[in-house]
Amino acid sequence: GEQMLTDTFRRKHTYLRISLTERCNLRCTYCMPADGVELTPSQELLAPAEVERLAKLFVKAGVQKIRLTGGEPTVRKDLQEIVARLNTLKPLGLQTIAITSNGIALGRQLPGLVEAGLSLNGLNISLDSLKAERFERMTRRRGHARVLQSIQQAVDMGFDPVKVNVVLQRGVNDDEVADFVELTRQQPINVRFIEYMPFDGNVWSTQKMVPYREVMARIAERFPEGLQRHQDPAGEVAKNFSLPGFKGSVSFVTSMSHAFCGDCNRLRLLADGALKVCLFGANEVSLRDAVRGGASDGELAAVISAAVDRKKAAHAGMEVLAVTQNRPMITIGG
Ligand code: GTP
Ligand code: 5AD
Ligand code: SF4
Repeated sequence: GEQMLTDTFRRKHTYLRISLTERCNLRCTYCMPADGVELTPSQELLAPAEVERLAKLFVKAGVQKIRLTGGEPTVRKDLQEIVARLNTLKPLGLQTIAITSNGIALGRQLPGLVEAGLSLNGLNISLDSLKAERFERMTRRRGHARVLQSIQQAVDMGFDPVKVNVVLQRGVNDDEVADFVELTRQQPINVRFIEYMPFDGNVWSTQKMVPYREVMARIAERFPEGLQRHQDPAGEVAKNFSLPGFKGSVSFVTSMSHAFCGDCNRLRLLADGALKVCLFGANEVSLRDAVRGGASDGELAAVISAAVDRKKAAHAGMEVLAVTQNRPMITIGG
C-alpha cells in the first residue's frame, strides 16, 4: 500500500509520469540531441496492457495523477486506447489523467482523448516562440500554425487551464516574455516560463539559462500592475502568479535556480519500462524485465519499493551539474 511509494525522506509519490514513446515529430534542440537518439526496439517498449498493469499497481499504492509524455505521446497510434485503459483505474483512486504534448498532431485527437478520459485540467502544450520562423529554428521542423490551433481548440473545448510551456533560452526567445504574458489577458491560459535544464546531448550552458528572477523583473517592467502570487498546492513544480484582471496565469518552473525536490511527489515510468525515481541521475530499475520475467504483483511492489527507497534527497538546482550520467531528455519526457 502507501508504504511502497513513500521514500526515506517521507515523500509520498502520488504522481506518475509515463513516457509512451521515444519518438517525436519535432527536434527541439534542448531535448533531442543533434544526431538523434538510438531508439529502443519496439518489442522492448511497454505494450498498452503492460502500461495498464503497472499503472494499476501504482494507483492501488496511492498514485492519484498520471501524466502521459514522450517523446511526443500523440505519435503513438494507441494513445486513445491507453487513456481509455487508464480511465478504468479511476474507481481505484486515479483522479487525473494528463498529457504533455507539443501540439503538432494534438488538435484532431483531442475530442477522442476527452471521450477516453483525459482530464480538462491536465493538458500541457509546449510552445517556445510566437514567431513561426523562430519556432522552426528551435524545433528544426515546421508546424507552428498547428500548435497555435491546438492551443485555441483546447481553450474552446473547455480545458482550463491550458498550460503553455515555454523553455527560455537567452538570446534565442527571451525577448518574447511580454508577448507570452499577453496570452493570459483574455484566455484561461497558464503560461509557464521554464528554466533551461541540462540533459545528455543538449548543449546546455549556464549563460543560456534565464533565471526566473530575471524574467519576473522583465514582466514587472512591462506590466506595472504587478504579478500576484498564488497559493501553490504541495508537489507543485511551478511558482504561480497572475496579473490583476487577467483570465489566465503566469508561472515559473525554477528547476535550476530554486529547486523543489523537498516535496517532490513524482516518479517516472519510461517507454522502455524503466522506473526512474528522479528526473536527474541514473537511478533506474527495469519494471519491464520484472513483468516479462513473470513477477507477481507482490514481487513488482517489492522492486518498486526498493527503487523508491534509493531516491536521493535532491538532484535539481545547480547540483544537476554534478550529475554525470543521465539520458537525453527525449527519452525521459520531462
Ligand atoms: P503538472 O504539474 O502536472 O502540470 O505538470 P508538469 O509541469 O510537471 O509537467 P510538464 O510535462 O508540463 O513539464 C513542465 C516542466 O517541468 C518540464 O521542463 C519538466 O521537465 C519539468 N518537471 C516536471 N517534473 C519535474 C521534476 O520532478 N523535477 C524537475 N526538476 N522538473 C520537473
Ligand atoms: N529544460 C527544460 N525543459 C525542457 N523540456 C524539454 N527539454 C527541456 C530542458 N532541457 C520541456 C519541454 C516540455 C516538457 C515536457 O519539458 O518543453 O514542455
Ligand atoms: Fe519533441 Fe517535446 Fe522533445 Fe520538442 S521537447 S523534441 S516536442 S519531445
